[in-house]
Amino acid sequence: MNNGNIIYGGTFDPPTAAHARLIRELSERFGKVTVVPCKVSPFKVSTGATAEQRLEMLRTIVRGVPRVVISAFELDREGTDYTYITLGHFADGSPLYMCVGSEMIIELERWKRTDEIARLAQLYVVPRPHFPLTEEGKAKMRALGMRYSVADFSGGEGSSSEVRISVAMGKADMFLTKEIADYVTRNGLYGDYCYVNGLYARFGMKRSRIEHSFSAALCGVGLAKRLCVDTHKATTALLLHDIGKYVTKEDAEKLGVRFDGRIDGMPLPVRHAEIGAELLRQVIGIDDDDIIEAVRWHTTGRAAMTPIEKVVYLADYIEPLRDFPGVDELRAETEKSIDGGLLAALRNSVEHVGKDALYPATAEAYEYYKEKK
Ligand SMILES: [Fe+2]
Repeated sequence: MNNGNIIYGGTFDPPTAAHARLIRELSERFGKVTVVPCKVSPFKVSTGATAEQRLEMLRTIVRGVPRVVISAFELDREGTDYTYITLGHFADGSPLYMCVGSEMIIELERWKRTDEIARLAQLYVVPRPHFPLTEEGKAKMRALGMRYSVADFSGGEGSSSEVRISVAMGKADMFLTKEIADYVTRNGLYGDYCYVNGLYARFGMKRSRIEHSFSAALCGVGLAKRLCVDTHKATTALLLHDIGKYVTKEDAEKLGVRFDGRIDGMPLPVRHAEIGAELLRQVIGIDDDDIIEAVRWHTTGRAAMTPIEKVVYLADYIEPLRDFPGVDELRAETEKSIDGGLLAALRNSVEHVGKDALYPATAEAYEYYKEKK
């Protein structure tokens, strides 16, 4: 057991089952665990919890865990939260540690006053799924003068985006402990994406297609983070990427959609993407081009895809409910590198469809990414 005090900060919006597990692991290894929820920007709060609710949920998950205290230092303090200020507050001459997820190392140099952080505390890096601590990450910490050690356990799944998706699925306990899930349901929290259920019903989505959409959205969260894509945009696009699946061109036109000839001659399997994109823009009222284009190109892909287009294309292709020969290899490629996964998926499409029936955008995309490699 290490006698030091380890600071574990975050939004905890909400505290997930993975947070609960992590706190228990820390309490087995450190003399004291100080959990520090930070302020959430008022611009970000939609259906998120209030600071008081976050504290209440945190108290629930640490109940009975020894050596853990919750500090409202950042919540009570005026002004922007900076890690170096918080560490300075807790520095009392005894060894101080700071718990960081491996996914945070990517942007370490953007933190304020890394020199102060390095002076005050030693980093305790917890490997997170999909974010192995790379040699580059270690070199970055060393270059900034940081002392660090790596945890002998890894963090679990469950970000606030994933919680929001699971709430829309009616499965709040997917990433939350039973008690927190009940609290979330009772207080109507994190319902940002519940509206998609109304759209699924309105546009005749079949049960299996709905499950695929949720599964793809969950799969997309990790991919979005790896490519620094806005997770809210990626989630919205993935939840709605197949919204045109059961809508004919004629049905869409009755709803007022104008295709201006674009859809004519388009093979049927590709049409639903075009119909979906135009439903989003012209009927559902989503005016974000990143989201709309990601839906438009989700089936075929295209050359020089934007990061969000890659996320939607790949998540749709390899989400855990997909089951076709070779899908595990595609998942493994994607785990290694997203462009590698993309190329493998395009190759799979080219071989599966056969060159003649291939949609031109897919052929171009395949050539483009093969060349790029
Ligand atoms: Fe689709």
